Amino acid sequence: MIPEGLIAALRAARHVAVLTGAGVSAESGIPTFRDAQTGLWARYSPEELASPEAFRRNPKLVWEWYAWRRRLVAEAEPNAGHYALARLERLVPRFTLITQNVDGLHRRAGSTDPIELHGSLARARCSAEDTLYDTWDEGDELPPRCPACGAYLRPDVVWFGELLPQAALARAWEAARSCDLFLSVGTSGLVEPAASLPRLAYGKGAAVAVINLDVRPSAEGQLFYLHGKSGELLPLLVGSLEPGAEP
Ligand code: OAD
Repeated sequence: MIPEGLIAALRAARHVAVLTGAGVSAESGIPTFRDAQTGLWARYSPEELASPEAFRRNPKLVWEWYAWRRRLVAEAEPNAGHYALARLERLVPRFTLITQNVDGLHRRAGSTDPIELHGSLARARCSAEDTLYDTWDEGDELPPRCPACGAYLRPDVVWFGELLPQAALARAWEAARSCDLFLSVGTSGLVEPAASLPRLAYGKGAAVAVINLDVRPSAEGQLFYLHGKSGELLPLLVGSLEPGAEP
């Protein structure tokens, strides 16, 4: 199921970079970004809830949507794909994990330093002064207020129309430039830089593998497309590095 050429590239790699998207958390029961919204939230599109305009218009609604997503994530567990990536980090000389997910499941699975391009549900920040908070009171009045200045707190995530965190982005570009294997997993690659990072890596001579449910399987030279679930394919791929795996 895993192309031999990809296994060989993984075994030879000195630096593996991995980009993940919502698909990696799908098997944990977190709906992917482009899946229909469910239940209470079905009548809103993510674009209507995840933007500075939406927060200005209706801060309570936006805060409550994120509070619902935070509860979903708290009830979910990392899946075999998250665990395989945490394991991979310990098996290769250099490893960079870049994620578009805000759910924190990579950290909970044991990944030590994921680059969170879109921020994290686990943090809030002052909407006026950008001070970060790991904890806050969900009191009667929502959103909660910044204890320092009284402005609303907002989730520390990237909204439509906002810039990505520049330091995180710079680290992601550097990893794409310097890796010798780049894995793009569970992302539709529709928003930047998810489309460009694997292209840059490939252009610099790295092997590239794309794993999601949208592709037809193929293996040409150093470019691999694997159709399947990350919770099944990543453990197989990482397993090929384990001591005792068939050469
Ligand atoms: P999408 O919802 O666009 O894409 C999910 C991808 O995961 C698709 O390619 C699916 O085929 C694939 N997929 C689904 N289940 C899978 C599974 N079990 N195993 C492997 N792949 C699976 O999510 P993202 O690409 O993460 O940004 O979306 C990127 C960004 O677009 C989001 O972070 C969001 C949005 O704009 C912001 O909010 C800033």
